[in-house]
Amino acid sequence: MVGRRVVGGWAVNLLRLAQCAVARGLTPGCWAVDATAGRGSDTCFLAHAVGTAGRVIAFDVQAEALTSTRERLERESVLDRVHLVHASHACLSEHLPDPARGRLAAVMFNLGYLPKGGSPSVITRPESTVQALEQACAQLQPGGVLSVVSYRGHSGGAEEDAAVAHFFASRLHSWLTHLHHPHAPTTTTPVLRLAIAPASAVQGSPHDLLLPRPSAF
Ligand SMILES: C[S@@+](CC[C@H](N)C(=O)[O-])C[C@H]1O[C@@H](n2cnc3c(N)ncnc32)[C@H](O)[C@@H]1O
Repeated sequence: MVGRRVVGGWAVNLLRLAQCAVARGLTPGCWAVDATAGRGSDTCFLAHAVGTAGRVIAFDVQAEALTSTRERLERESVLDRVHLVHASHACLSEHLPDPARGRLAAVMFNLGYLPKGGSPSVITRPESTVQALEQACAQLQPGGVLSVVSYRGHSGGAEEDAAVAHFFASRLHSWLTHLHHPHAPTTTTPVLRLAIAPASAVQGSPHDLLLPRPSAF
């Protein structure tokens, strides 16, 4: 896979930036979704952020990913607040309990394939990704944060990124949105898209709202 991950490099910084932006929408006791659990990095981040009274629902189509995520959650003593779902995020809505409907504080997508030894043949796909994005947006509460990291270096990645870009451009007119490229972007470097669900209380520019203060790094 070309131009995808460099541990400690731009991809890691983008993932960190996504977490910093999402953290602004999270409060103890809230609901959050990790649409692509993978090795559990975002799931663990969300689990810590929602606190003991909050809940996280994490999806993945691969049992290996969910096992990996479960082990990480156990190690970090936050498994109690996470519900792991072995299903496509295209079924996101049907797996939400009633109290979470329309009340998600954040939904995170980290597209592509399972890192650290996962099969590159099991990747997120444009059609199911867009279905999941539709449902995520319908279930976010006012002021809720959507984050999507997409990779353009692997086969099918550019097409999926284009589908995500089209979704943001065509469906999120009334949302605050922000597109973030890593330093020195190329056609194969990943991108981060952020969006905040409309809320009358939200004021300011998308940049101010979505990006962490420099001191956060
Ligand atoms: C880049 S990884 C996610 C990494 C993860 N956020 C982490 O911190 O390790 C993408 C994951 O999406 C999963 N995936 C692929 N298609 C999916 C789908 N339709 N629904 C949910 N997960 C899917 C893959 O199995 C893979 O584990």
